[in-house]
Amino acid sequence: MRENLLSKKAACNSHGQDSSYFLGWQEYEKNPYDPITNPKGIIQMGLAENQLSFDLIESWLEAHPNPAGFKRDGASIFRELALFQDYRGFPPFKKALANYMGYLRGNKVRFESNNLVLTAGATSANETLMFCLAGPGEAFLLPTPYYPGFDRDLKWRTGVEIVPIQCSSSNDFKITKAALEEAYQRAKKCNLGVKGVLITNPSNPLGTTTTREELDTLLDFVVAKGIHLISDEIYSGTNFGSPGFISVAEAMIGRDHNVSHRVHIVYSLSKDLGLPGFRVGAIYSKNNSVVDAATKMSSFGLISSHTQYLLSELLSDEQFTRKYTEENRKRLKERHGQLVEGLRNAGVGCLRSNAGLYCWVDMRHLLESKTFEGEMKLWNKMVYEVGLNISPGSSCHCNEPGWFRVCFANMSADTLNVAIRRLKTFIDSGRRSRPPAPAYLVRKKDSHPSGKPTVVSRNGRLEICASG
Ligand SMILES: Cc1ncc(COP(=O)(O)O)c(C=O)c1O
Repeated sequence: MRENLLSKKAACNSHGQDSSYFLGWQEYEKNPYDPITNPKGIIQMGLAENQLSFDLIESWLEAHPNPAGFKRDGASIFRELALFQDYRGFPPFKKALANYMGYLRGNKVRFESNNLVLTAGATSANETLMFCLAGPGEAFLLPTPYYPGFDRDLKWRTGVEIVPIQCSSSNDFKITKAALEEAYQRAKKCNLGVKGVLITNPSNPLGTTTTREELDTLLDFVVAKGIHLISDEIYSGTNFGSPGFISVAEAMIGRDHNVSHRVHIVYSLSKDLGLPGFRVGAIYSKNNSVVDAATKMSSFGLISSHTQYLLSELLSDEQFTRKYTEENRKRLKERHGQLVEGLRNAGVGCLRSNAGLYCWVDMRHLLESKTFEGEMKLWNKMVYEVGLNISPGSSCHCNEPGWFRVCFANMSADTLNVAIRRLKTFIDSGRRSRPPAPAYLVRKKDSHPSGKPTVVSRNGRLEICASG
């Protein structure tokens, strides 16, 4: 007899980690590309990491040895940092982070450090907000396609459900009032209490910024329904082209308390500064009850005092942050151009984008059948034959087969060229009609067979296991 050693929560399959998004990472780990030691290996293009500007941060660290060495003005502050345990965070760090967030929004909005709650990355910030705002039997509406990690971050431990807002390529996946209303009604039909809408701006995986019109539609919608709006702005510093990034904080200017107390911003230094290993995130809210509750919960995922001290010094060097941000945007723009151009030469288009660390690539014409099975087949060929781990649209809950997210900032320009060459060779040689790859990845039985494990389908049926 099988022993039941795990809790229902731990054993439950709602963590979303059996998605092709995470399976692709596992395949890459088994056979990672290296230009010298493994030139036939898989190139990791499924990871939204920013490695383009490390040299700038490294130069700053070299010029400023004190903070990383537990020192202030040459004297050790090791004991102070070792003992620091105020869960509200280190005030100079919160101030520097608030100023940096204002700078990234063109200083059109002022961020008060009292409204900031520090968390171990945006992952923890998003989950903390779920715990504060919703519970089992309640839902957040998310525009599709969305970041695959949200299935784990928003749903797994909280028991909250995600109801997709179905966006389509016909209007470049823009969020409309009709799509919002349709998702809201679908959730209601399933007896789910809708607690809010969560967007990513700039979008992961689209690489586009939310327009002023969309932001206004969203704000009107949440006020009309009496619900919350979470704007995950983790990519705010990656906006490398026009139109410019407009934060929900800016869109709220001139609106009253009825709006501002229901809007919450998530931020992190994982993308803009390329520091996902440091685990630095934050919630910004003007709702004092949310700030109080989230601060208490932040005890479960604090940022280490050493990291806070180091980054308070780095972020308060405004000359550095300005130079870094401008240069980083320039490098992202160049790299994005390299990928778009390379794809175009291979006869592949992508959604016009102006931000992020990836492109949303249209491979519909390469599908053997215009179905999610066809998309999985193409993805398997990409991983095993072409040697590229890209993320299929179905892992982002896109409801149109044939779209893929392709990352460009976690590798060198040379590696990106190798990836583009491989793709072009694959397309030119018509290899897509070859026999199937030996070992197709299989989705677990209990996830949606189409690779589209949405919580609530258009016909209103619940499609996942209940959270444990
Ligand atoms: C939209 C979005 N939110 C949150 C995260 C998680 O970020 P962090 O490393 O800060 O936890 C990611 C990471 O890819 C992301 O793309």
